[in-house]
This record gives sequence, structure tokens and C-alpha cells, in this order.
Amino acid sequence: MTTAMTESDAVVTETAWAKINLTLHVTGRRPAGVAAAGYHELDSLIVFAGIGDELTFSPAEDLSLELAGPFASALEPCADNLVLSSARRLAELAGIAPRAAIRLTKRLPVAAGIGGGSADAAACLRGLSRLWRIAPDSAALERLALELGADVPVCLHGRACIVSGIGDVMEPAPPLPPAWLVLVNPRRPLATPAVFGARRGPFSRPDRWDRAPAGVGDLAARLAGARNDLEQAACELVPEIGTVLSALKETPGCLLARMSGSGATCFGLYETAAAAGGAAAMVRARRDAWWVEPAPMILDASAWAGRET
Ligand code: C5P
Repeated sequence: MTTAMTESDAVVTETAWAKINLTLHVTGRRPAGVAAAGYHELDSLIVFAGIGDELTFSPAEDLSLELAGPFASALEPCADNLVLSSARRLAELAGIAPRAAIRLTKRLPVAAGIGGGSADAAACLRGLSRLWRIAPDSAALERLALELGADVPVCLHGRACIVSGIGDVMEPAPPLPPAWLVLVNPRRPLATPAVFGARRGPFSRPDRWDRAPAGVGDLAARLAGARNDLEQAACELVPEIGTVLSALKETPGCLLARMSGSGATCFGLYETAAAAGGAAAMVRARRDAWWVEPAPMILDASAWAGRET
């Protein structure tokens, strides 16, 4: 059941945290004639990074979207923007008119494998539910999230988890130790369908952990036994990803370097903020055209919200 109360007068703020695939195994492909035919079955350990887009939602007479931030120009403020369609679809679900002035400060690169658009859509569902004071039925909201994109459900969930199905089945991640990440994007957008289309070879098996890692070194060792099955295909499409991975691996304290999602963003894993900060400075010095950001690994975005990043 969907309940609607009076609209909030206050401006609502949400952060769309970057989504990081610590592992990504492609385990199969949906055959023709079933739901989401042609989509790939995944098995992926997902966490979040303490960097994201900022969204504000203000009361208004109609629906509008204003873009700001370093990556605003990469997004078209057109009608099919995922944020606007999320707003319209949520209003439809609640049986109300979609009235809000949305401001999106785009800090994450676009088409980058860290779920920027999906995290924006999820933040929009959360923020507008607060602004409009609606409490959509959680199953209906999850269905809507999946219709908006395969990564939207996990971004809405906002907690470290193992995702399977086409991105719609979530189970809690094993307990993970505190860790730091350095995100590096060569500023080359990469379309997800192209990367899935270029993937070759057999499907992987799902990866399940029999015990929690004892510390960040143990986490890195465990992750090293897994993969991102899209990394090779993405490197063929954008060879600079290989250069990004080498640059991360060469930084002191880098315990693991891997691509996230369908790329091109890669992450390095570090034990401390100091190690991640030093590594980020080193990578920036090597290639100042790249987008380079150190950030803490986040296991629960709702507990993180409001903290300094
Ligand atoms: O759902 P989303 O818009 O994020 O997916 C973009 C594209 O990525 C899909 O059209 C599909 O080609 C590919 N994809 C896939 N299997 C998934 C997720 C995405 O093949 N589980």
C-alpha cells in the first residue's frame, strides 16, 4: 500500500554514493523468452565509497532538474534523464503529481562503472519519498528500482552485499574490515552494453566466502582469488584501463587493483587513509588528466550519511 501525506516544506538532501564491485563474476545469460532476456546473471561483492553525487529536492509547482558540478556537462538535462524518470515513476506509483525542483551536483564521472546514474536514481527515490512524505510499499519500490536499471536496487539498499540474479537478488556481504580506496577513471566513458557484448569465454561460478577476512590484508588476498569478469573486455575497448591498473599497483601500500563494474573506473585497496592519500597524489602526479579520488570503503551508506568525507 502507498500512503501519501502532506509534502515536506524543507529542502531534502541525499548523497548518491559511488558503488564499487570488489568482485564481479558473470555466471550466465538469460535465454530468450524469460524475464530480462539477454541480461547477464551476475555474482558480485558490492560496497560503496565515501564519495558521491549530491542531490537536493525542494518543493515546487512542477518537475525540474538543474545540473551542477564537475561532470554536469557530461549529462544531458533531457527528458529521459534517469533522475527525471525516477521522479515521474515514483509519483505514478504513489498516485501523486511529480512536483519538485531537483538539483544534481555531479561529482562522479558518467558511464564509469561506479553506478553514478543508478546511485542518482536511488537517491531520487529516497529523497522524493521524504519530500513527498510517501512510504511506498517496499516490494513495489524494489520492482521500480530494478526497472530503472540493474544497479539501482543495490544503490537503494545502500549496504555492502553480494548481488546475484541480474542485480536484483541481494544477500548481506560477509563482515568486512575498515579499508580505503583510491578511485581512478581515465575520463573515457564506457557504455555497459558494449562491455557485456565484448565479453568472451566461459561463465564463472558464484563465489561464496566461508569465513570473514581477518583484516584488510586478508581481504585483499581473498579478493585476489576472485575477478572482475568484465575487465578484459573493457581493456580491449579502452586500453588505457590497463595503464590505470598498473599505475595503481605501483603505489606504495596498494593491496589490490581492479576495475569496478563495466569500467572504466578502477580502484586500489589500501589499509589506511594516509596510504590512500599518498597513492592518489602519486597517480595524479603521473597523469593529471585522470580523475583520481581517495575515499573510505563504506559498508552502510545510511550510517555514513552526514559524516565528513
Ligand atoms: O540495467 P542497465 O540499464 O544498467 O543495463 C545496461 C545494459 O547492460 C543492459 O542493456 C545490458 O546490455 C547490460 N547488462 C547485462 N546484464 C546485467 C546488467 C546489465 O547484460 N545484469
